[in-house]
Amino acid sequence: MDHPRYPRPLGLDPLAYGGDYNPEQWPEEVWAEDVRLMREAGVTMVSVGIFSWALLEPERGQYEFGWLDRLLDLLHAHGIRADLATPTVVPPAWFYRDHPEALPVTREGVRHSFGSRGAICHSSPAYQQAAAAVTEQLARRYGTHPAVALWHVHNEYGVPVSDCYCDESAAHFRRWLGERYGTLKELNSAWGTAFWGQLYTRWDDIQPPRLTPTAGNPAQQLDYARFTNDAVLANFKRERDLLHRLAPGIPVTTNFMTALSQCQSMDYWAWGREVDLVANDHYLVAEDPRSQINLAMAADLTRSVAGGRPWLLLEHSTGAVNWQPRNLAKRPGELARNSLAHVARGSEGAMFFQWRASRYGAEKFHSAMLPHAGTDSRIWREVVELGQELGALAEIRDSLVRADAAMLWDWESWWAQRLEWRPSVDLDARERAEAWYTASWDAHLTVDFAHPEAELSHYPLVVVPALYLTTEAAARNLRQYVENGGTLLVSCFSGIVDEHDTVHPGPHPGALREVLGLRVEEFAPLRAGESVRLEGGGGSVRPEDDGASVRLEGDGELRAGAWTEFVVTEGAETVWRYADGPAAGGPAVTRHALGAGHAWYVSARLDGEGLDRVLRAASADAGLAERRLPRDVEVVERVGEHGRYLFAINHGAADADVPAAGPGVELLTGASVTDTLAVPAGRTRVLRY
Ligand code: GAL
Ligand code: ZN
Repeated sequence: MDHPRYPRPLGLDPLAYGGDYNPEQWPEEVWAEDVRLMREAGVTMVSVGIFSWALLEPERGQYEFGWLDRLLDLLHAHGIRADLATPTVVPPAWFYRDHPEALPVTREGVRHSFGSRGAICHSSPAYQQAAAAVTEQLARRYGTHPAVALWHVHNEYGVPVSDCYCDESAAHFRRWLGERYGTLKELNSAWGTAFWGQLYTRWDDIQPPRLTPTAGNPAQQLDYARFTNDAVLANFKRERDLLHRLAPGIPVTTNFMTALSQCQSMDYWAWGREVDLVANDHYLVAEDPRSQINLAMAADLTRSVAGGRPWLLLEHSTGAVNWQPRNLAKRPGELARNSLAHVARGSEGAMFFQWRASRYGAEKFHSAMLPHAGTDSRIWREVVELGQELGALAEIRDSLVRADAAMLWDWESWWAQRLEWRPSVDLDARERAEAWYTASWDAHLTVDFAHPEAELSHYPLVVVPALYLTTEAAARNLRQYVENGGTLLVSCFSGIVDEHDTVHPGPHPGALREVLGLRVEEFAPLRAGESVRLEGGGGSVRPEDDGASVRLEGDGELRAGAWTEFVVTEGAETVWRYADGPAAGGPAVTRHALGAGHAWYVSARLDGEGLDRVLRAASADAGLAERRLPRDVEVVERVGEHGRYLFAINHGAADADVPAAGPGVELLTGASVTDTLAVPAGRTRVLRY
C-alpha cells in the first residue's frame, strides 16, 4: 500500500480546529470580525474556496484572485492556516453554456440542470480540462503562500451524484471494460450473457445499465459501480498530480464520507491509497437516539482506510443540519463529545461545516460555529470551550489507535448484495455491518475495519458481518487466518458469489464452506415481522491451559428475524440450534475447529441481544477479556511517543468511573489520576499514562 507522502497539514502544529469558511458570502468588513472571533475560539485552520469557481473565474480564462489574495493574507496575519480548495465541485454557469453535455444523466435518461452543486459527468473531457485549468491557476498562484497548509480537492466526491448514463460515459465505460476484459469472449463469460440472451458481438452494443423493463444483468451493474468509482477517482488523481507538480510540499486531501448512511458509491479502500492525508466528513443521523455509534463506526472506517494512521475530521456540525427530515439540535455537551470521539478514534482535530451561518442559499438553516444567534449563544460558548480542550490535547498528535479486533468490510460486496432479486429484501449488508458494529461498541471493543484480502494475523478476532461477494483470494485469506490460530465470526449470506456475482460452485456458502465446516442446503427467509427462537445446542467446553475453561455451550435463548438457513454441519459443532421456524431443530450458530483456530457461523439475522451474546462467546473464544463498564461509556486508547491516552466519553446521564490502566494525568482538567478516572455525565476525559 502507498503511504501518504505528507501525513499532516503543512506547518500546523496544534490539532486542526475550524471549519469551512465562505467569506465570499459577506462584505469584507465582516472578515476582520471573523478572524478576531476565530482567534477567540482557538481556530487553527479553515477550509476556503470550496464553492468559489464562478467567483475566481467569472468567464472562461478571466481570473479574479484579488479577494482570495486578501483573504489568505488576512488569515496568515492572524496565524490561521488555510485548507485551500480547488473549486471543481461547482463549475460556473458559463461552463455549461458551452458544455451542456457535461451535466450528468440519470439511469432513466433525464439530464440534470445547473442551479445547485455537483452536477458533473465525470467522464466529460470538457469538465476535466476546465477543472485542470482552474486548479493549475490556483497551484501556481498559492503554492508558496505561507497560509496554505493543505489542498482540499473538490468536495465530497461521490455525492450527490456519482454515476452518469450519458453517451460520453457509455463510451468511457466501454474503454474501461476493454482494459478489464481484453476480449468480448472474456466479457461475455464474466457477465454470464448466456442468461436471457445477453450475448455481445460488438463492443459498441454495450451500454451502461440504463433503465430496463425488469432486473438488469447483475454483473453489468456491478461493473458499472466499479467503473463509476474509478472514473471519479481518476478526476481526483488528475488534480492531485497537478498540485503535486506545481505546488510541491503541500499535502493533498479530499473529504470522504465514509459513513455507510452518507455515501454509497465510492470504494474508500481505493481512495485511501491515493490521498496524502485521509479526511472525512460526518453528520449525525439526528433521530437516532444512539447516533454516537454511527459516528464511531464512521471514524473507525476512516482510520482503517487511512491504514491505521492519523486522519482528519474535515466536517461535522456544531448543531442541527438542514437536510434531514427533522433537524434536531444537539444537546448541551454533545458537540464536544462528538468532536472528541472522532479525535479518540484517530482524527488529528475537529473541523466543521461551517464557520459563520449563511444568511441566504440552501443551507441557511444549518448550524455553524458562529450561529445566527451570534456569540451570546450556547453553541458559541461550547465552540470556545472545545477550542481550549483541543488545545490541551495537542500532544496526542501522531499517536495511533489500539484496536481489539477487526471487522471486514467491502464496498464491492455491498454493491453486489444491493442489486435486485435477492432471496429477501430484509437482509442488508449495511444493516448487518451496523448491527454487529453496535454489538462491538456495546462490548467496549475497539475495532479496525479491514478489507477481506488484508493481512489479519495480528487480530485475535475477525468479525464478518456481511460478505456476500467473496473472492477466492479472500477465502484463502480467511482460511489461513483461522488455521494460524485466529477466531473468525461469520454472519449469514456470506461467501455466496465471486467477483462477477456468479455463485461459487457447489452448495452455499461456496467460498467459506471449508473454513466454516458446514454447508447451507437452502436459505429460509422469514415473513415480514416474523421471528424465531434459538436455543442452546449443547456445545462443548474448551479447557484452557491454566485450568480455566471457556463455555461454548449456547447459553440461553436467542431471537432472530428476517433470515434463517437450513444448515448441515460437516465438522462444525452446533452451539445454538433453531427452536422453531422453518429450520426448527437444525444448527443455527456453529463453531468449527480448524488448524490452530476456530470459525463461528451465524446463519440467522440475530437481533441486538443475540448479537451481544454470540459476540461475547466468540470474543471469549479469541481470548479477549471482557470489559465491565457502564453501557454508554465509550473507551478508546491511542498510543504515542509521549504516552498512552485513554479517552473515556460518557454519553450517559450518570457520572461514571472508569478503571485507569495506570496512574497519570487527565489532560482536560490537569488532575492527577491514580486508579480511577472519574467521567462526569455527558463529559469526556483523557488520561495520559
Ligand atoms: C456536507 C458538504 C458541505 C455542507 C454540509 C452540510 O456534505 O460537504 O458543503 O453542505 O454537508 O451538512
Ligand atoms: Zn456522462
